[in-house]
Parts: sequence; structure tokens; C-alpha cells
Amino acid sequence: MSADKPIKKAIFPVAGLGTRFLPATKAQPKEMLPVVDKPLIQYAVEEAYAAGVREMIFVTGRHKRPIEDHFDLTYELEIALEQAGKEELLSVVRSVKPDDMECVYVRQAQALGLGHAVLCGRRLVGQDPFAVLLADDLMVGQPPVLAQMVEQYQQWRTSILAVQEIPAEQTRRYGIVAGTAVNDRLLDVTRIVEKPAPQDAPSNLGVAGRYILTAGVFDDILRQPRGVGGEIQLTDGIAGLLRREKVFAYRYAGKRYDCGSKEGFLQANVELALQHPVLGAGFRDYLAQIRL
Ligand code: G1P
Repeated sequence: MSADKPIKKAIFPVAGLGTRFLPATKAQPKEMLPVVDKPLIQYAVEEAYAAGVREMIFVTGRHKRPIEDHFDLTYELEIALEQAGKEELLSVVRSVKPDDMECVYVRQAQALGLGHAVLCGRRLVGQDPFAVLLADDLMVGQPPVLAQMVEQYQQWRTSILAVQEIPAEQTRRYGIVAGTAVNDRLLDVTRIVEKPAPQDAPSNLGVAGRYILTAGVFDDILRQPRGVGGEIQLTDGIAGLLRREKVFAYRYAGKRYDCGSKEGFLQANVELALQHPVLGAGFRDYLAQIRL
């Protein structure tokens, strides 16, 4: 059965316009905004790689070329670094795309929603279970959050959604799930609703941007009418899927930075800078000093 296969493929929907970050995103993809010293998309790709994923499927759009360039060989740069004897920088550059990692690009010609973006990866995914990572959500966890989810998948062999408790007044920002507890971290999902008003939300468990899905979800995305905001929603597809298959919600161990918002993006920069092996100590001193 396809569900017995390991998770080798991941979809990264990166076609969004990034309007919340204008003017910074006027001429560059929001996924290329750096948190400390790496673009957002690289954090998500590294998380997928650490979880065993080797085929990265980027669902791109116009103006997203810098993402393709970032994961491509930078021949001139590598030659220049080699000739200058800058071995450390050379390995930083080369580690962006390990040799056993494949990057594939497919265009989403129209921004019709997250479900539509995921559908664009259908042919490349085939029948295998796959991951979806939203680079806006920068996840920090040990083990990394997707690796935790793959471990759950290996045990349960069913779709797994990352969830976290969210403030009651923020339900309009998330897919919200409800279900019955399997254990402390897992929930057997009985309902999922995209961005409900607080009074309509079935719980305060919001979906973070990490999913492991069985290929059955593609048909369910296709079957759903347009959802919230007139968009083809991934959440609605998952609501269809759970009528036929088990879907589990997993309370991940770790922290999520909502880098789709300026506040979350700034918090990620500050906290990851504080944890940075080279910059951390000096940055801590600097922050202590400006607080005076
Ligand atoms: C998307 C999903 C939503 C999920 C969220 C996580 O919404 O549609 O269900 O909770 O990502 O970040 P977006 O933030 O793209 O509006």
C-alpha cells in the first residue's frame, strides 16, 4: 500500500505575493527574506531534509526565480571562493543543496489558494504520501518538527497535521481542528474548519504550516467547492479526506514563528540571533545595552 512508503517528497507552496511584507517583497519573494543569515525557505527545506525528504517540490509563480537560483549550483561564486581559499564559506554555499537532494519546480499560474497550490504538485507526488511545508511558519524543534511528524507517521501510517494551542481570538488566522484524544500529543481529528470566527471554532487547536498527507487528499481537494476567501483551501480537502481515512493532529514539541507577519518575523530574527553560535553572545550584550 502506498501509505507504507517513507516520506520522500515535500511540497513547498511558494507562489504567494507576500503583500504583507511590501515594499520588501515588491521585487523579491517573501520566502527569500533572511532570518539572521538564511532565507526563510532554506529553514523549511533543511527541516524537510532532516526528516528524510529528498525531493523538494516548489510550487512557484512569477517573480520567484531567486528561489530556483538559491538552490542551484552557483558556479562562479564557488570558483571564486575556492581560488580565494575560503573553505568555510564554500562549504556554507555547497550545503544549501546536498548532492542527494533534488529540487523540482512547477508553476501555479493563478493564485487560487493553498489547496490549489498543493494540487499543482499532484503529478510529481504520484501515489506516495508526502509532506507540505509552509515556509512562512518557521519551526524550531529538537528533533525538528517535521521529523517528529514522520516518526508519528511511521507508527500510525495516516495523515498527520501539526497543531498548537492558539489564543481564542485568533481562530480566523488558522485551520482549526477538533477530535478525540489518542494520547497527550495526538488527536484523532473529527472536524477541521478553515479560519472560523471565534464563536464558531470547534476548539483552540490551530494548524501550523506542516502536514503529512496521503495522496487521497488530491481528489478531496478537487471535490470541494471554493472555501474561505473564494479560495481552494487545503483545509477543506482535508475535511473531505477525514470522512474516508483517519487524520491525526499532532501537538508538536517546539516553537513556531509566524514569519508571515512582521511581528513574528522580527521575533524570529531576535531569538535566532540570540541562539546563533557566532553572533549570539555579542547580540545578547547589545540588546542588554539598548534596554538601558
Ligand atoms: C494557511 C492554512 C491554515 C493554517 C495556516 C498555518 O493559512 O490555510 O489552515 O492554519 O496556513 O500558518 P495562511 O496563513 O496561508 O492564510
